[in-house]
Amino acid sequence: MSQKLHTTVLLNEAVDALMTDESGFYIDGTFGRGGHTRLLLERLGPEAKVLGVDKDPRAIATGEQLSAEDNRFSIVHDSFAEVGKHINQPVDGILLDLGVSSPQLDEGERGFSFLRDGPLDMRMNTSAGMSAEEWLNTAEEKEISWVLKTYGEERFARRMARAIIERRQEAPLKTTGELAKLLSDANPAWEKGKHPATRSFQAIRIHINQELQDLEKALDEMLELLRPGGRLVIISFHSLEDRMVKRFIRDHARGGDLPPGLPLMESQIARRMKPVGKAIKATKEEVSDNPRSRSAVMRIAEKLV
Ligand SMILES: C[S@@+](CC[C@H](N)C(=O)[O-])C[C@H]1O[C@@H](n2cnc3c(N)ncnc32)[C@H](O)[C@@H]1O
Repeated sequence: MSQKLHTTVLLNEAVDALMTDESGFYIDGTFGRGGHTRLLLERLGPEAKVLGVDKDPRAIATGEQLSAEDNRFSIVHDSFAEVGKHINQPVDGILLDLGVSSPQLDEGERGFSFLRDGPLDMRMNTSAGMSAEEWLNTAEEKEISWVLKTYGEERFARRMARAIIERRQEAPLKTTGELAKLLSDANPAWEKGKHPATRSFQAIRIHINQELQDLEKALDEMLELLRPGGRLVIISFHSLEDRMVKRFIRDHARGGDLPPGLPLMESQIARRMKPVGKAIKATKEEVSDNPRSRSAVMRIAEKLV
């Protein structure tokens, strides 16, 4: 099996933003193939510790190799939304580089890609939860349409959901190739330079992995795990994720989701975070070397109290 490596996005920018103490304790909540973690370990001192987290068993296998080579590093197989269960000390920095890794997309048998035929799986954690095949063959038309529209911003969500229901009345959908063809046929307006099933594949993946629900839960949890002065660094690839991160930082920087004009004194406002700089995007050079970085947006916040 040929396996392309993952090209890490915003590598130096993320590690620069994360590190505040070279003997600190850091969490890489989306270990992947460990691109960010390896640079972080290079820059950290001998007393530092890094905990990697990933839902994907293959990422865990890579993490286990790294932990055998470097005793400052350890890895757990879980969602980053559950990381609190695995630690008992305040954290100096938490990194989330959201979405899927290139190896996940490149391996047809994972079922993430409309370009490579394989079983319709799409689960990051292949040992838990419902696969895309189970969901697409049982969900109601309305739910499928909602997912395609909300998570994929797919204009033809209703038409595509109908096509899925009609198709599965004949025989259950089984492969990514079948789904990609069905969605392409149901899409009357192909966008230039974009496969006609791109949006719906992304939407189904986000739904199957509960990506937005995990992020929402994780943001609250991570604020509690950080020590004052610790950093939260989040790289998003989807506008819904970035919006959630932006609002979370803004609300905690304002001291809650307060109605404007409320007559409060500064001491009455519980500001818990402050944004560090503006949102960061990949440079032109990075985008030309790695097109996946085109949609990346990185936000940094520091915990106050
Ligand atoms: C973009 S990749 C990270 C790549 C990594 N920064 C690197 O440089 O190798 C995203 C990774 O996050 C994992 N992931 C996504 N959502 C997750 C979640 N809720 N909990 C744990 N891991 C998650 C995916 O399985 C994938 O391996």
